[in-house]
Amino acid sequence: TYVIAQPCIDVVDRACVEECPVDCIYEGERALYIHPDECVDCGACEPVCPVEAIYYEDDLPAEFTPYLQDNADFFFETLPGRDEPLASPGGAAKMGALGVDTPLVSSNPPQG
Ligand code: F3S
Ligand code: F3S
Repeated sequence: TYVIAQPCIDVVDRACVEECPVDCIYEGERALYIHPDECVDCGACEPVCPVEAIYYEDDLPAEFTPYLQDNADFFFETLPGRDEPLASPGGAAKMGALGVDTPLVSSNPPQG
């Protein structure tokens, strides 16, 4: 899977969303998250991000490796403000902005 890492936080450019052929990039509050089971590894999102937040899982810089698990946690864990896991909705557009983030994303001080 591809992964959205720390540079997305508080930037949320959303250029990646337009490129994804399977609509698997979901919007939280301060960042976006790629669904690891819905992403088909096409890679179209990676070059369009202006802050280089997107990486293939094996290419994550060391400081961003926690975001591999974190993108999955956004879908499969309960989160502050969301009591049920999101699981696999099968499309981000119909979900809109979800208004919650993972603890890892929320722990970042305001960026930019
Ligand atoms: Fe979509 Fe990027 Fe995966 S464009 S299919 S999230 S590699
Ligand atoms: Fe974030 Fe970059 Fe997409 S800033 S919303 S990962 S284009």
